[in-house]
Formats: sequence, structure tokens, C-alpha cells
Amino acid sequence: MEEKLLAAEQTLQKYGQEHLLNSFNSLSKEKQAELLDAILTTDFKQMQELYETTKIKTNFENVKLEPIAHVTKSELSSEELAKYTSLGEDAIKAGKLAVVTMAGGQGTRLGHDGPKGTFDLGLDSHKSIFEILCDTMKEACEKYKVTIPWYLMTSDANNESTIQFWKDNNYFGYPKEAISFFIQGKLPMIDTNGKILLDEDGTIKQAADGHGGIFEAMRKNGVLYDMKEKGIEWIYIGGVDNVLAKMVDPVLTGLAISQRTLMAGKSVVKANPQEKVGVFCKKDNRPNVIEYTEISKELAEAVDERGELLYGESHILCNQFHLSALEKISQNKLPYHVAFKKASYLSDKGEVIKPTEPNAYKFEAFLFDAFSTVDNMSILRVKREDEFAPVKNAKGVDSPETARALYKAFYHMN
Ligand code: UD1
Repeated sequence: MEEKLLAAEQTLQKYGQEHLLNSFNSLSKEKQAELLDAILTTDFKQMQELYETTKIKTNFENVKLEPIAHVTKSELSSEELAKYTSLGEDAIKAGKLAVVTMAGGQGTRLGHDGPKGTFDLGLDSHKSIFEILCDTMKEACEKYKVTIPWYLMTSDANNESTIQFWKDNNYFGYPKEAISFFIQGKLPMIDTNGKILLDEDGTIKQAADGHGGIFEAMRKNGVLYDMKEKGIEWIYIGGVDNVLAKMVDPVLTGLAISQRTLMAGKSVVKANPQEKVGVFCKKDNRPNVIEYTEISKELAEAVDERGELLYGESHILCNQFHLSALEKISQNKLPYHVAFKKASYLSDKGEVIKPTEPNAYKFEAFLFDAFSTVDNMSILRVKREDEFAPVKNAKGVDSPETARALYKAFYHMN
């Protein structure tokens, strides 16, 4: 412990983060060890660089932005539809598709105390979001007579409770051996002066590093290796919060095979310029998504000659990657985006502070930044009422109420 303490002190001094040891003596032996390990494994240089990025405002002045080409599913000719379906079905039936659900988020906006997937949507059946997604997976397995490997990404904060929930519910009847869990990465949070925050328990305050961390997490946790061994070629990666997500869609897989692209994504028409969705685009000739938190009012409202939104192809976080692309992306880090959040912390005097206003920076990588590693990707525009019913907020738009209504309409329930 002495050696570690000394090493930690030296590191902290070098980076001006000495305050992290202020409460050290009042911690239990266990927490002291935890804190020292966290200090010795934190990349302080990276944190310093990330702090510098908080001073830069995202702008698109020096980048070339263009709309991206897409294929509209409902406008495909019967020959095209049959071709994509058959190509995709062949791959799925041959066991070449795996599904990854990103369930690392905490559902803070939803006001749900627990992993978002455990939220009861309020149907008569009281099914949780996880069970609803599992129904979709079971239906696909039955239809294509195959057991589709399903990987669930959790975070440090919700891994245990997520696994327990699945166990308690006997995996909702999905073959247990086909489900695996892996934990996403995390990064320290810093204040407006670049100081790393201490958590209430005296250790470093860390937050999930965004779903862009998925690629590295898949490599580090052996998921990519496992997929390779299983002969998987295509991997669907989606969010946990869309109760109408169609994770197994031969048309999407077939389109990518046919267009010879390594990535594909589904879009719906953006409902209005203010809708809180990212939009697909081409940025410096490569596929990308402009996130709703970063798009300017002008860009969001720009229309084409037909009066349609120029950037109206909403990204619904239903994307598919070829394994070779995942292997490549997982070798590099994606850029981090900055979010300013409310975060409770331990003050220098050892008091727990619960701010009422945002006080700390959180750094998140976005999965879709990986799109720019390829020249082209396939975009399949689908119908919102068939495939997009997000559960994000406690009330109003994208709430359990709106998602429930969309779900019931799709399944013709009363
Ligand atoms: C997200 C997309 C947005 C898209 C919209 C569609 C991002 C950054 N933006 O917005 O482009 O139009 O969905 O509904 O994703 N998650 C993790 N780990 C994390 C962070 C998130 O697993 O560290 C998961 C969440 O559990 C959730 C999904 O990613 O399933 C989306 O995350 P969220 O932060 O809610 O994104 P949105 O702001 O809704």
C-alpha cells in the first residue's frame, strides 16, 4: 500500500490533482485500495487533453456537409425486395448474424430507478422493455430456425442488477447459453477547472464513456473473438430503448451485402426540425451522424427544393456492422463528445455536495463516429410507425405513454 500511495502522490502532483487524496485517511482500507487502483489506472494525460476539448465549441464551418443517399424500404420494387430479403435470410439462417443491445445507460431522464431495460412499459402484461425486445428476438429465431447469439452491453453502474433481472426472469425463455453480458468502459468526470471529482464514497467519480466505447469493450471482453469463433459475419447493434426495434431484418443485411458495404443503418423521416434525434449525413465525403445536441438551428431547418428537410434522415440507433469493420474500429479510440451534467461529489472538506445546476463534464464517445471509418454505408429508410417507438422521457414526447401507444398500434392491441 505504501508503495502505491507514493506512486499515486507523484502522479497526482504531476497533473495537479492532489485533492484526490484529501479524504484518503478517513476511508476504509478497502476504499483506500480502490482509490489507489483507480488513480494508478487513470490516464491523466488523456483527462488533461479532454479538459482542453471542453473549451472548443463544435462547429461545422470547416467541414463539408452533405445529405446522404438512402433506400426507402416501402418504395423498393418487388424484385429488389425479394433480392435483399433472400440475401439477408440466407446469412441469418446460416447463423451469420449476432445482435448486440446497448443497455449501459441509466435512464435518468425516464426517472426509473434501475437499468432502463427493466422498466415496465405499462402494458396489461406488464412486460419490461427487456422482455419486449426478447419477444422480438424469439420470434426471429423461430422464423429463421436459428439461435441468434445476443450480447447485452451493461455498465459498471447496472451490470449486476441487469444480470440478476435476466436470471430472475429465467431469460424470458431465450436460450440462456446464447445470451452474454459485457461491461462498457468508463471515464472520470471533471469540474470546470479540470479537477477530477471524488465520488461520495471517496473514490474517483467515473461515468460510462458513451456507447462509442462499445468497440473497445467488445475487443477487451473477448466478444469479437467469440463472434469470430461462432462464424458471425454481421452484427446488429442497437439501443435498449426502442420497443419496436427490429433487430433481425433480412432486408437491412441483404442491402449491405448487395451494396457491398460494411456498415448499414436504419433511418426514419425526421418528424420536425426540433426532434431530438441525430441525422445521417456525409461529412467530408464520409458517412456520419450530426447529433441533435450539436446541430445548428440553420442546419436543422434547412430544406431542399421539394421543401423537405435537407438533413431529415433520422438515425434511430439501429445499425449493422460487418465483423471485419468492428475489428478495425476496436483498435482505435473514437473522439469524445462533451456533456455538462449535474454530478454529486465529495468536497475538499469531505462534504457530499449535491448540485442543483450542471457542474461537471462527462465525456462520451458516440458509436456513429465509427461510420466515418468507411467510404460508404447503406441507409435503409423504414416507416416510423413500424420500427421506432423510443422510451426516453418520463412524460410528453418519447415517453412510456407514446411508446405504449405506438407498440399497441403496431400489434393491433386495444
Ligand atoms: C440517441 C442517439 C441519437 C438517436 C436517438 C434515437 C446517441 C448519442 N444519440 O439519442 O442519434 O437519434 O438515440 O432514439 O446515442 N447507452 C449505453 N451506454 C452509454 C450511453 C448510452 O449503453 O454510455 C445506450 C442507452 O442505454 C440507450 C442508447 O445507448 O439504449 C441511447 O442512449 P441515449 O443517451 O439515451 O441517447 P439519446 O440522447 O436518446
